Amino acid sequence: MENIMSFIKNNQKEIILGSVLFFGVVLIKRKLRSNPQFELIKNIRLNEKVAIITGANTGIGYETALDLAKRGATVILACRNMNESQKAAEKIKRQSGNSNVCIEKLDLASFESIRNFCSKIMADYKKIDILVNNAGIASCPKQVTVDGFDLQLQTNYLGHFLLTRLLLESLKQSNDCRVVNLTSKLYEKASIRWNDINMSENYSPMEMYTQSKLCLILFTNYMKDYLRQLGIGNIKAYSVSPGFVLTELSRYREKNLILKILKFIFYPLIWYLLRTPRQGAECSIYCCVKPNLVEKEGFYFRNCEPTKLLPHVDNKNDEVRLWNLSENLLKECNV
Ligand SMILES: NC(=O)c1ccc[n+]([C@@H]2O[C@H](COP(=O)([O-])OP(=O)(O)OC[C@H]3O[C@@H](n4cnc5c(N)ncnc54)[C@H](OP(=O)(O)O)[C@@H]3O)[C@@H](O)[C@H]2O)c1
Repeated sequence: MENIMSFIKNNQKEIILGSVLFFGVVLIKRKLRSNPQFELIKNIRLNEKVAIITGANTGIGYETALDLAKRGATVILACRNMNESQKAAEKIKRQSGNSNVCIEKLDLASFESIRNFCSKIMADYKKIDILVNNAGIASCPKQVTVDGFDLQLQTNYLGHFLLTRLLLESLKQSNDCRVVNLTSKLYEKASIRWNDINMSENYSPMEMYTQSKLCLILFTNYMKDYLRQLGIGNIKAYSVSPGFVLTELSRYREKNLILKILKFIFYPLIWYLLRTPRQGAECSIYCCVKPNLVEKEGFYFRNCEPTKLLPHVDNKNDEVRLWNLSENLLKECNV
């Protein structure tokens, strides 16, 4: 006992340093580990598959595109900023060793841009197997798009609604097509302002964000019925909540100086608690890749698991009401 005590006394510095290193490595390993469900699909290849990912130049979209490229898919980065997306495509090609990675211009805040994108895709590709409606903005101040809609509503939801509808003919040509819509757990707090979906009165940036994410869930769920009515059995739609992920999504909120300072001070803790973009992409990738996920059609996924929606959201009437409202809004714009 005395020997041990004197050893500790004589080697205090080394013991403290060793312990800090050991726990540091354990914490970092724990922080960077993958979801065990995701590990199961690690070796699945996607040769011959064609995938579109919106907003793929950064964050979760970038990591999704990189993973699908590594699996051998042809990957189309659908982005609004061509310089950034060109850089992202080059990086993905280098990291994946797959040269079938290309960029196409898509600005979801413009219906004309969405139309042009779809015409180009349908002319260039016989089929699309995977569509990841990933692009999004959060909590930005009120802005109206060229089409007259709230910027968050159109970017996050209405734009993706139109995109999916216009690509339907190409999606139909795949033998196992997946549509994955990125939503958020914050849907739990959301409701839809049926009589003022653009929130022209009492605008709340956060409420608009959560409303747009709830719309994506209702849209996903109704797609199942819509496709069945059209006799289309090969397309399955999933909504995915990626968890809280350290990306550039909060860039609008960070214009607030106090939040910027707080983020700087607490960065190590934020880094530790939030998921990395790669971890945030795991659930999207899982829904794109996992074989036989088809029975779970229309489901909401979190942590690579089908997850029950809160009862107030699992509502057929709202699904139909939103679908009809969205179609009418697009018709009013002659889209
Ligand atoms: N991060 C989280 O904690 C979290 C949580 C729940 C849900 N999500 C959802 O996950 C998705 C990806 O978010 P992220 O965290 O990866 O954010 P991010 O790093 O900010 O990436 C968002 C992407 O969307 C693109 N985008 C924005 N407006 C667009 C438009 N009008 N047309 C086309 N692309 C546009 C951005 O392009 P630019 O680079 O040109 O701006 C960027 O590529 C979003 O739908 C988000 O709501 C994220």
